[in-house]
Amino acid sequence: MNKKSHKGRVFSGVQPTGDLHLGNYLGAVKQFVDLQNQAYETIYCLVDLHAITVWQDPKALRKATRELAATFLACGLNPEQSILFNQSQVASHTEMGWLFNCVARMGWLNRMTQFKDKAGKNKENASVGLFSYPTLMAADILTYHATHVPVGDDQKQHLELTRDIAIKFNNDFTQYGFFPIPEPIIQGAGTRIMSLRDGTKKMSKSDTSEFSRISLTDSAEAIAKKIQKAKTDPLNLPDNIQALEGRPEAKNLLNIYAALKNTSLNKVVEETKGTSFRNFKSKLTDLAVETLSPISNEINNLLNDTNHIDTVLRIGSEKAKNIATPIVESAYEIVGLLSTKK
Ligand code: TYM
Repeated sequence: MNKKSHKGRVFSGVQPTGDLHLGNYLGAVKQFVDLQNQAYETIYCLVDLHAITVWQDPKALRKATRELAATFLACGLNPEQSILFNQSQVASHTEMGWLFNCVARMGWLNRMTQFKDKAGKNKENASVGLFSYPTLMAADILTYHATHVPVGDDQKQHLELTRDIAIKFNNDFTQYGFFPIPEPIIQGAGTRIMSLRDGTKKMSKSDTSEFSRISLTDSAEAIAKKIQKAKTDPLNLPDNIQALEGRPEAKNLLNIYAALKNTSLNKVVEETKGTSFRNFKSKLTDLAVETLSPISNEINNLLNDTNHIDTVLRIGSEKAKNIATPIVESAYEIVGLLSTKK
């Protein structure tokens, strides 16, 4: 680990499958930037191999990968401070992924709710990759001996599985803990941002309604319109958090405001008590536009120079390989594979 890492090594990933939305930003990328600016070593990955667990148009995937890289940079990730790269450039992920396919149990994967949600009724027709997706995710994390993983709330179960895989590998093959057991970092008001059309449903890229989410590339007008149309309830904003029970839309909009403002839900409830949705929505619009407009402008600037983006990813992947390769080699040796790599 390098000088910056005395608090530990952070790893996280995002799928390059279209524009990031406010949930991805507040639940994940904003945390990535905060951690980069603390005493952690930080590694952030564009998980293109995870993206292809459902069919992607090849041209669109390439474009989305560069767009995600531009988004990372525009949000404040700095290639001098963090390792930024795409997963497919570092073979260690799939090599470790295979070992973990042999460690994880069918029963563990059968319990994954995200597979059930994504495969839906058509489970028989889902790719094998979609089913074993969490073992590759465990490989992403453990191949770097990462100690901390910042994610949104929806990834909690996958992180528990990652911990189970690390524990089983350590017990099955070693007298000592070869893999550190990584800690999830799921914190703040943005860990579960809900749809603007339905406060009981997660904000998601796959929702058919554009009005359910704010994208990081939305114009100021689009942001204003989406917030204006966001579902509410007939009451004014309450004076305590308990009164938000049963008011999912109010809670969601207040959480979004708190996460954008880097403060707690408690403080926002105090600030907005008794306010009408009309007035609150106008405050929220100003804050969202002020935060997101510079990001979307910077994404567009960066996309004018895709060579620069490709260079950032290539350099990042070299740095990633330097960490990952010896760890995979040790893991191969530990399980008894005759490695020719040495
Ligand atoms: P992905 O690409 O679906 O989402 C990227 C990140 O955004 C978070 N997120 C949300 N947070 C708050 N509210 C929401 N509505 C919301 N929607 C998404 C996700 O929790 C995630 O942190 N499996 C992962 C990618 C991955 C990964 C990894 C993450 C692959 N390997 C290793 C961590 C470590 C995924 O599909 O995220």
